[in-house]
Amino acid sequence: MKNIKNLLRNLEVLSGSFSDFHTDDVPETPHELFINWLYIAIREDILEPHAMTISTVDHDGYPDARVLILKNIDDNGWYFATSSESRKGQQLAEQSKVALTFYWPTLGKQVRIRGTAVETGSERSSADFLERSEMARAAAMIAKQSNLLLNKEELDNAFDQKIDIIKSNPDLVYPQWKLYCVHANQVEFWQGNTARKHTRLQYRLHNNQWTHELLWP
Ligand SMILES: Cc1cc2nc3c(=O)[nH]c(=O)nc-3n(C[C@H](O)[C@H](O)[C@H](O)COP(=O)(O)O)c2cc1C
Repeated sequence: MKNIKNLLRNLEVLSGSFSDFHTDDVPETPHELFINWLYIAIREDILEPHAMTISTVDHDGYPDARVLILKNIDDNGWYFATSSESRKGQQLAEQSKVALTFYWPTLGKQVRIRGTAVETGSERSSADFLERSEMARAAAMIAKQSNLLLNKEELDNAFDQKIDIIKSNPDLVYPQWKLYCVHANQVEFWQGNTARKHTRLQYRLHNNQWTHELLWP
């Protein structure tokens, strides 16, 4: 245990070098700034820049978090898709307040989004489902995400069965697959600095208007 502590202590973090974050002339909305940062992450070959942590809250008020893929972003918000029958789907049905977190380590950039996840409706959810690969559609259609798995054979059999169904019905949609949009009310852009003088810019939505301010690091 002692060795692990030392090992962790000696690991590098925020070693840079990072670009400066000039906050004088930022876009009016966090959506625009996020897209600018996402383009940088893609251009700089960040591995899976569209992977984000989504935090939900369960029935007892415990936070729960897992990684999901960002499907889109537009003026309305940040989109993700999942089964409404999954653990997170059930949590969202009860409490739609969520947080999204992105971290792009080699850029020293973190983005934190807080808001409300809203279902986008069956047309868009179906379109998202049909854009998925056969295996990904089969995985969703098994409809047991977050249930107890008793043995791996069951998983293989379920996949085989669903793949057969998809092959003979390529337009089949799994109605519990939902595309959600996170309507944000607070977004923070964090640019790390090797000297620990990090820059934090926080956007807040007030009376339908976005304002922004700096925070102490
Ligand atoms: C990189 C990555 C991407 C993922 N993308 C998704 C996704 O888009 N949708 C999804 O339902 N689960 C995705 N998962 C799996 C989730 O992290 C999670 O294990 C699953 O959705 C069950 O979560 P729940 O029990 O909280 O409902 C992804 C996992 C990783 C590591």
